Amino acid sequence: MTDFKKIISHAKEYGFVFPSSEIYDGLSAVYDYAQNGAALKKNIRDYWWKAMVQLHGNIVGIDAAIFMHPTTWKASGHVDAFNDPLIDNKDSKKRYRADVLVEDYCAKIESKIDKEVAKAQKRFGETFDKKQFLATNPRVLGYQEKIDAILKRLGKSLEKEDLQDVKDLIEELEIVCPESGSRNWTDVKQFNLMFGTKLGASADSAMDLYLRPETAQGIFVNFLNVQKTGRMKVPFGIAQTGKAFRNEIVARQFIFRMREFEQMEMQFFVPPGTQKEWYEQWKATRLKWHLSLGMGEKNYRFHNHEKLAHYADAAADIEFKFPFGFKELEGIHSRTDFDLGSHEKYSGKKLQYFDPERNENYVPYVVETSIGLDRMFLAVFSWALREETLDDGSSRTVLKLPSVLAPTKLAVLPLVKKDGLPELAHQIVDSLKWEYATSYDEKDAVGRRYRRQDALGTPFCVTVDHQSLEDNTVTLRDRDTMEQVRVKIDELHHTLDAKLNIKHWLQKIQ
Ligand code: GAP
Repeated sequence: MTDFKKIISHAKEYGFVFPSSEIYDGLSAVYDYAQNGAALKKNIRDYWWKAMVQLHGNIVGIDAAIFMHPTTWKASGHVDAFNDPLIDNKDSKKRYRADVLVEDYCAKIESKIDKEVAKAQKRFGETFDKKQFLATNPRVLGYQEKIDAILKRLGKSLEKEDLQDVKDLIEELEIVCPESGSRNWTDVKQFNLMFGTKLGASADSAMDLYLRPETAQGIFVNFLNVQKTGRMKVPFGIAQTGKAFRNEIVARQFIFRMREFEQMEMQFFVPPGTQKEWYEQWKATRLKWHLSLGMGEKNYRFHNHEKLAHYADAAADIEFKFPFGFKELEGIHSRTDFDLGSHEKYSGKKLQYFDPERNENYVPYVVETSIGLDRMFLAVFSWALREETLDDGSSRTVLKLPSVLAPTKLAVLPLVKKDGLPELAHQIVDSLKWEYATSYDEKDAVGRRYRRQDALGTPFCVTVDHQSLEDNTVTLRDRDTMEQVRVKIDELHHTLDAKLNIKHWLQKIQ
């Protein structure tokens, strides 16, 4: 996988992601999606929406407001429990998440295990059995034991809110501030991640609001409205995509952890007692969605949560292998009846469903799928970016985006800017633009234009040459194989449809 710095600079150089308000030197951990980034993001969003809403007769989509009544966040538990433990280093004045400092320490031990594995692999060659080595090598076992003990203690202290023990752990492990190198730490404090704001013009009457930290609550408060107006029968789902805001203590790793980000969430309402089955089913369905994009089965894994959020009776992450290791990409949570039950209590309104099959009223249980759109963008973008050495020894930078997600599907290139070739190229653009995002490029030699389209992730280039004027054929170049085939202009649509139509991609999920 390409170096992370290269990924960030490629995203900027080719118009995918810019630092926000860059002319004022940017704003920490806030990013803008540029012309190609916005298109890639929209294509990911559409791919999710079609898979979740269009293909499921029992899932509907909504678009709730970002501002919500402040009691929402009391009921959801976010006012009291949406905290991260923070710690400051007195010398560097830098702020850290205390749990992340400990986890990073463990990651360093893990990399020692990786080194042992690499050494042994070299020593034993083909006969090396990694599984057996990990299970028997005394040094590796020692490292693993240490990691397990540290994480267990951290988990317990956080669960009990024993922040003094979290600090003791940091001190015992002699963790130093990455900036100052010192161990001069403050106490660990809880820090609420919600952004507050005010609604209303006058200071007296203004109401304290929060920017939503998850889109899910917009779905819960609309549960009954949607169920009644859509005449939905449990089990059914409500999906939505939209912005969420969290005042992350440490926002880092480019668009992986942001303070303003976008979520794609779906709440699936089920009869009480059936949530475990649905939870397993949604885990499998969501993994299939990811795999349909062809980014390699080995790059995904499930991570079951030991420490459950205040609302969950089971939870797992789908982790993806980012350039900095396996990290959470999507969460699947069995949220019980916590949210609807709590909104009932705080609002005084019944949020129940009459089940004609069970002949009873109940508050449905909920299984949630929640994926960060920006994180999915980073997964796709970092996986796709490659430096390739070609047969002739030259190299190329290519963005092998799944073609269904590529911002531009097709670039039409006249070989030269004369002899009627640009006119024919424009005609081809005009006939294909109805279905595919199509661009026209006549600048520079055709080889350089191919390289530029490779770097933008454009899956196909159509080149119009003098032969095209004679026999109505063009060359169709495949980004990944770089193969060029001669195709009749009339057949272009048919050939492209087989590769680009979203239908063929989505059919892999079912
Ligand atoms: N409604 C449940 C919920 O919000 P979460 O695990 O906190 O659960 C779900 O968030 C997903 O949202 C994560 O898996 C991640 O992809 C994305 N996400 C969360 N915080 C984020 C952040 N600060 N920046 C970017 N994406 C984030």
